[in-house]
Amino acid sequence: MPTAVSLFSGCGGSDAGLRAAGFDVIMANDVLSYARDLYVSNFDDTEYVLKDVRKIEHFPKADLLVGCYPCQGFSQAGVRQPDRKINFLYREFVRALRQIKPKAFVVENVSGMVREDNVHLFNNQITRFRMSGYRVSAAILDAREFGVPQERRRLFFVGMRSDLGLKYEFPDPTHSISADTENGLPPCPTIRDAIGDLPEWPEGEFDTQDFHWYYLSRNRFRGWDEQSKTIVASSRHAPLHPISPRLLRVHTDKWIFENDAPARRISYREAARLQGFGDLHFPETQGIASRYRVIGNAVPPPVFQAVAEAIPNVW
Ligand SMILES: C[S@@+](CC[C@H](N)C(=O)[O-])C[C@H]1O[C@@H](n2cnc3c(N)ncnc32)[C@H](O)[C@@H]1O
Repeated sequence: MPTAVSLFSGCGGSDAGLRAAGFDVIMANDVLSYARDLYVSNFDDTEYVLKDVRKIEHFPKADLLVGCYPCQGFSQAGVRQPDRKINFLYREFVRALRQIKPKAFVVENVSGMVREDNVHLFNNQITRFRMSGYRVSAAILDAREFGVPQERRRLFFVGMRSDLGLKYEFPDPTHSISADTENGLPPCPTIRDAIGDLPEWPEGEFDTQDFHWYYLSRNRFRGWDEQSKTIVASSRHAPLHPISPRLLRVHTDKWIFENDAPARRISYREAARLQGFGDLHFPETQGIASRYRVIGNAVPPPVFQAVAEAIPNVW
């Protein structure tokens, strides 16, 4: 079984995909204690190092290195500050890459990285990967094209060690996102497919804060037979559950509920299903904001699985 070291592992979305692709994840790392708690209570065969990656001196040898470094500076939702210190954690990833020298690596990040104001960071990363001895491919993948019922586009870098003489090709979609399925692919599952069997009003499992003006400054609603809006880390900004009334647009930044029927955000458990996780056990060590946070930060496992499975068999 090929081995993998995972950095910025969170609660293990990327690593669940790696496991499904047949990798043995020998080490995971993050600074968030609830990410560790959720990870180890669902996947107990990995050594999880809970500390700042900058304090890890030695990384174990492995065939594959993966890392989804934080993206606050690039994300549409977050503050757009391309020079924030947090954006330079990719240098830690490169440090690990140079130490481990795996046959391949995979990085996931937000698609905003290729926007004009961040493109210098995008190019800088490619240059550092190349200088570390890797042939790099990059692509933006849409999670819906890999069977995840959620609008989520993310940037992936995959590098193959240059001495292997191979170039990585990204996988073809496995699902169709348009109504037209003439391409022979099955349609992407819907919200109903993913969460239709769960309780309608799971008391205590969803954020009940008011729907403040910022929440209602955009459409947070998707119906049962659509795919979910992006699952984000902030519980306050979780999309509406489809039992809620639809939102009607009043003007550019103002939406209102079409009637007074009860409305609620999706729960953290529903968020996990919409991210493509199986049913997870959520430890009680922290409250619901932490649960939403680590699930919203995760890479959808089916997407990571497809990316990892497309790596040529060099193991
Ligand atoms: C995009 S999330 C990773 C998601 C994860 N790969 C998954 O699929 O569940 C980025 C992670 O980097 C972690 N992080 C931020 N700064 C860090 C640091 N200095 N050392 C280690 N981890 C850090 C965050 O806590 C967060 O969980």
